[in-house]
Amino acid sequence: GPAPGRAQSDGSGVFVLGAELGNVMIGVQPTFGYEGDPMRLLFEKGFAPTHAFSAFYRYLREDFAADVTLHFGMHGALEFMPGKQVGAGGQCWPDRLIGDMPNVYLYAANNPSEASLAKRRSGAVVVSHLTPPLGQSGLYKGLLDLKSSLDRWRRSDAAAPDRGELAELILAQAQAVDLVGDAWTDPEAEIDALWRKILDTEQALIPQGLHVVGGTPNPMEVAGQLSAMAEVEGNTPEALERAATLLVQDHETPALLRALGGRFIRPVPGGDLLRAPEILPTGRNMHAFDPFRMPTAFAVQDGQKQAARLLERHGDVLPRAVAMVLWGSDNIKSDGGPISQALALMGARPRFDSYGRLCGAELIPLEELQRPRVDVVMTLSGIFRDLLPLQTRMLAEAAWLAATADEPEAQNFVRANALSYAARMGVDLETAALRVFSNAEGAYGANVNQLIDSGAWSDEDELADAYEARKGFAYGRDGKPAQQGALLKAALADVEVAYQNLESVELGVTTGDHYFDTLGGVGRAVKRAKGTAPEVYIGDQTRGDGKVRTLTEQVALETRTRALNPTFYEALLEHGHEGVRQIEAQVTNTMGWSATTGQVEPWVYHRITETFVLDEDMRRRL
Ligand code: BEZ
Ligand code: MG
Repeated sequence: GPAPGRAQSDGSGVFVLGAELGNVMIGVQPTFGYEGDPMRLLFEKGFAPTHAFSAFYRYLREDFAADVTLHFGMHGALEFMPGKQVGAGGQCWPDRLIGDMPNVYLYAANNPSEASLAKRRSGAVVVSHLTPPLGQSGLYKGLLDLKSSLDRWRRSDAAAPDRGELAELILAQAQAVDLVGDAWTDPEAEIDALWRKILDTEQALIPQGLHVVGGTPNPMEVAGQLSAMAEVEGNTPEALERAATLLVQDHETPALLRALGGRFIRPVPGGDLLRAPEILPTGRNMHAFDPFRMPTAFAVQDGQKQAARLLERHGDVLPRAVAMVLWGSDNIKSDGGPISQALALMGARPRFDSYGRLCGAELIPLEELQRPRVDVVMTLSGIFRDLLPLQTRMLAEAAWLAATADEPEAQNFVRANALSYAARMGVDLETAALRVFSNAEGAYGANVNQLIDSGAWSDEDELADAYEARKGFAYGRDGKPAQQGALLKAALADVEVAYQNLESVELGVTTGDHYFDTLGGVGRAVKRAKGTAPEVYIGDQTRGDGKVRTLTEQVALETRTRALNPTFYEALLEHGHEGVRQIEAQVTNTMGWSATTGQVEPWVYHRITETFVLDEDMRRRL
């Protein structure tokens, strides 16, 4: 009869894409997707793999009869198929698809959270690989000219006769690179701010090209990586020396061969090389963390600092409600930093039992907090929910404690909002105090990224629909989810600020499509729920003390240091089509921010167009 499904099918057969080379088959994993109507992405809570996806794994298991499978890369689709979070069984798609085929998974060392999922849900043995070496962005073209004028300005006497002229030159140069809009109002202060922006741009760390598995960075790349690592507190000279040795040895090829031969792969915690040199040597089986110890005392203290920084950056008026996106990876890499920030905003902290194990939350008294409790609508990635169930319950408990505290509403926005939702929606206070939202069990992502990537949307409200449908599951104090779309909508309508932390220097908000999926998605849902867009901020604690940037500033910084920076794109172009794919992704992801938040400045697109489309030479190279 006819072939089932429409994906990868010509009507009479379902294609398995790949090449057979004797005993090795190199296959292309079919994508996530829905049979038939792509608009189902908007509303589905769960789904089944396409026939093509299922046929692919059946072919590997039964026709090709592989002795072992090597998944190559990361963010695969297999381990994100519906089913239980842990202890997968015969009803769970990852388990049904992989069966008893041994599964080796080559995975980037900086992504322990997704690697943990691959291990739990698809029985993978992970073999870690390096990420590209980091180096300073540096300056180029007009930015270089501007910096030399700024240098002159800083050396020149405040009373020098040509100072006015120099200010005019700086203005023109800064306008030419889109750093300043109109004329100066207060040149001294604005030029000072410009100087700091130029240094921020010059010193930003960017990945240099791509890592080739089994390859080692060249001496210049090693030097750049080590000097970035030397800046980080806690990286001892011994650790740097060890890194210098291990970076230039190939531990990945031997590990892959060992794993494919069914032999033991040593374990290692995952993390960013910059902050965690102990991830070397790569070629090891990654694990994450001790869930009972998160957040650590340091993370709690730092979380309070970063929360204060966010409130200060927002201005003099305290926001009544903040939407905060929490991922697994940002928390794992900081021992619970973002979790602590959410607690701090609500005026809460973790509670530990006499063994020092996390057991819940408690409120910080208002006298100690010295400001009202800010309401926090927390949206968790599916990965966070899976990896951090204790912390999910703790966050729900913190919101409940705040909502039920005997405190004046003017000092407790969590309570004020919860009382209002209870009255308006006719629900009890337990329900009205739910603030921890995520996907339905066994589902991941907001799918806003998939809609944008596939062009399957025509107006921005559809992105908000997808977000709410996917993330409308509230997780309560008992850790159990309940579909609470109306409550999510009510809570989003009160949100003034949307906020997420960067998880790593390596991954900007324009590098992947997950930041705009989550933070952009919530921003769009807030705009629809209340009519005006929230302020969107990015917390960056990947270097130094930490910074809060507006989304507009963050996209501008990444555009200057990455997309438009020859150091960045030339290194990628050396890797042929894969490098081009990365450059293209940068543009699509930037567009994702425009679609979800509308907060990308027009010059970003003008300059990208000039650099990659209108330049005929470049176009040919691409
Ligand atoms: C997470 O760690 O939660 C995460 C990682 C990648 C994409 C989205 C979420
Ligand atoms: Mg993908």
